Amino acid sequence: MDNMEDNIKCVTCTAPVNIAVIKYWGKRDEELVLPVNSSVSVTLDQAQLRAKTTVMASPSFPNDRMWLNGKEQSMDSKRIQNLLNEIKQWRKEKHNGDTCTDGLLMWKVHICSENNFPTAAGLASSAAGYACLAYSLAKLYNVEGDLSAIARRGSGSACRSMYGGFVEWDMGSQEDGSDSVSRQIASENHWPELRVLLLVVSDQQKSMGSTEGMQATLKTSQLMDRRIQCVPESVEKIKEAILKKDFKTFAEITMKDSNQFHAVCLDSCPPIFYLTDVSKQIIQLVHAFNSSCGITKVAYTFDAGPNACLYLLEEDVGRVLSLICHFFPPDKDDLNTFVQGLQTPSISPLKKDVSFISLPVQRGAIQYVIHTQSGPGPSILQDPAQSLLQADGFPNS
Ligand code: PMV
Repeated sequence: MDNMEDNIKCVTCTAPVNIAVIKYWGKRDEELVLPVNSSVSVTLDQAQLRAKTTVMASPSFPNDRMWLNGKEQSMDSKRIQNLLNEIKQWRKEKHNGDTCTDGLLMWKVHICSENNFPTAAGLASSAAGYACLAYSLAKLYNVEGDLSAIARRGSGSACRSMYGGFVEWDMGSQEDGSDSVSRQIASENHWPELRVLLLVVSDQQKSMGSTEGMQATLKTSQLMDRRIQCVPESVEKIKEAILKKDFKTFAEITMKDSNQFHAVCLDSCPPIFYLTDVSKQIIQLVHAFNSSCGITKVAYTFDAGPNACLYLLEEDVGRVLSLICHFFPPDKDDLNTFVQGLQTPSISPLKKDVSFISLPVQRGAIQYVIHTQSGPGPSILQDPAQSLLQADGFPNS
């Protein structure tokens, strides 16, 4: 804990993004954020994608206030309130409900958060943001416990960002949600060859938010019942594939689940379209590449937006990037800014004839690519210079 002055408590933390390979789609309890199926994800390296949050409590603050990416946001959001109340409840229980002797609970909080990547672009920014908020508040109020249950109250997928590596969110069966928590399947060091390419097709806000989309699908899609029946087997199989580092099985289940998720979106009434023509061309390209290799080398998955997340092994990154640059060359021909993140083998023009892939060349259709890998869960930053709030409780810039 960082005590900048007497009577001020301040904590700064970071938390990662996670991308599901078995998607969460649909809540059985809106208030408690309990899902209709379990899900599995890979936590991404915070060097490329992370949320950073500073929380500060002081007796001199008249109100709770919050800033996100430099702009003040309302604290009225139900999700923020639920998360804050839940953490305070834990603190009260720890102190046997005696709020009179616990000044900290009476103080107002200032929250400042920023992402190092575009917010709400279908890059799971809400998962990182709410995981970071839950983690930071838990440190501020000095409470311990399964924080995935707290993060879940902000955004369901956030509960998987509480751990690094490979993570399962168990849907649970208790009505109070006490067993709907996430747990680590394997750490970020388990499969070091696994790589991730995020293809940013659009960094605009998504067309329909996940909450509304889930409600529409549950209400109107007949295929959704079938999906709910299929998921438990997929979860077991993909966990086994992860533990065995069986890329082929991992990739095939990942693609099937993504397609099934978008199929139930399309089966909703009115239909929900998250994939664009470019997303569909990326899907075709991956299948054409895999079949030309005679083995599944790359998997795609899409969340509630058009951006693709590709999973592949390190040895194939160069070839796959060359293919992407061939079919979706950058607008300004600047490969250095087109591919960001981890060190990438130099991208050379394709040596093999790819005329068997019947796709048009679309300059500028992919804005940029983020090359990353699996990484660890949230962490606290001890250096006060990392704080996003000044000693007076207001944002740095
Ligand atoms: O956590 P939410 O409410 O933003 O929902 C996330 C839904 C998907 O990203 C589409 C799937 C998932 O499991 O992350």
